[in-house]
Amino acid sequence: MKKVFGEKFYQEMDRISQFYPNKRAMLLPALHAAQKERGWISDETMQDVADFLEIPKTQVKEVVTFYHMFHTKPVGKVNLQFCNNIACWLRGSEELIHHAEKKCNIRLGETTGDGVFTISEVECLGSCGTAPVCQVNDDYHENFSVEALDKLLEGRQS
Ligand code: FES
Repeated sequence: MKKVFGEKFYQEMDRISQFYPNKRAMLLPALHAAQKERGWISDETMQDVADFLEIPKTQVKEVVTFYHMFHTKPVGKVNLQFCNNIACWLRGSEELIHHAEKKCNIRLGETTGDGVFTISEVECLGSCGTAPVCQVNDDYHENFSVEALDKLLEGRQS
């Protein structure tokens, strides 16, 4: 099979294969590894993952479009994903989102022209006890505040 991903992808798949009963069961970790390498999951990437796992592309697409954690379009270097479910909403997530939109001069679902920031809204991040929560790339920012957001935005400018 022709290699279309970087060596790290195949090494990771080799490493985890012992934990899965078959290749098709590795769909989620394969998508994570693919997204880590390419930044998002394009149609081409879905096909590449499908080919690697020897499953239909439609099966890959079903999973990619079901989960918020997979990006179907390019995202900024700093991907701000605000939880806006009930606990976070009650603790001020709307204000945080509006503040981020204003500071970055974009709307929810958009990326700044320089490709640095993306702002999006996601479902419950499972950390309701520390609401409001914003997932920035792979990290949770809990008990998030306008001040903490300002600090983060200023620290990550281009
Ligand atoms: S409601 Fe935001 S983490 Fe659960």
